[in-house]
Amino acid sequence: MSTPPRPEPDAPAARRPVTLTKLAEMRALGEPIVMVTAYDHPSALVAEEAGVDMVLVGDSAANTVLGYSTTVPVSVDEMLVLTRAVRRGLRTPLLVGDLPFGSYEASDAQAIATAHRFVKEAGCDAVKLEGGGLSAERARAIVRAGVPVMGHVGLTPQTATALGGYRAQGRTAERARAVLEDALELQRAGCFALVFEAIPAAVAGLIMERMEIPVIGIGAGSTTDGQVLVLHDLLGITQGHLPRFAKRFADVRGEMVRGVAAYAADVRARAFPAPEHAYSIAPEELERLRASLPARPEARV
Ligand code: KIV
Repeated sequence: MSTPPRPEPDAPAARRPVTLTKLAEMRALGEPIVMVTAYDHPSALVAEEAGVDMVLVGDSAANTVLGYSTTVPVSVDEMLVLTRAVRRGLRTPLLVGDLPFGSYEASDAQAIATAHRFVKEAGCDAVKLEGGGLSAERARAIVRAGVPVMGHVGLTPQTATALGGYRAQGRTAERARAVLEDALELQRAGCFALVFEAIPAAVAGLIMERMEIPVIGIGAGSTTDGQVLVLHDLLGITQGHLPRFAKRFADVRGEMVRGVAAYAADVRARAFPAPEHAYSIAPEELERLRASLPARPEARV
């Protein structure tokens, strides 16, 4: 009988899939939760290998990879294509699908039907929606229908026009109170976690004292249980102005431009392809091919 293969002694232990319980434990233990927003299969493989805890297929895909000027136009079908690609690249992180604008507000039935599509057609573990008030009602309905929901308060890009543009929220006592009420309402609705986006660090700190579920911050200071950034922003793929909270950890766009420029230069100099990039044919086969070809027509003068 042959001996079963044994794992390499230095092989890293396989990580267990991240569950809602695991996230709650991390919060309780004060272990920071790492989340990224990603939109395709190669990015999902990177997130998996880098060991992040949660991946959000955010509707920021609208701006970041689909070329829309806001998140408003992106459709459920577009989001599902991206989300399925990410699903195929993930084993460990919890996968959250972002419900796009107009796909959950109209009724509980609409919200449940859309959430079910993200779970059944794209393999999401959970969905995210933006705002309190009506959205908290929709969140409650989706949770009751069996799908975990992540809420999102502060700057909610789907309704940025109503908020006065893409700007930090909760900068007056009244507005900060409104963000707090939204967060508490979503917590009561049964959300398993929340995103706090673009609110003053001190306000986030005060709200955190009242939160019992994991909170992931983006532009909300360091008191939240975790942080999220868009992969394209943190890797330096996004071109142009970045929000204040988006720290660049690499210059991937610069590397991409350098790579494509080097390729173009090699093609123009006929330095690419080199012999090692070409396929060969046996000399006798080439000879047989030549012999089988009709004579070339005379060149016209
Ligand atoms: O769409 C998105 O990427 C998001 C994150 C910024 C939280 O909502």
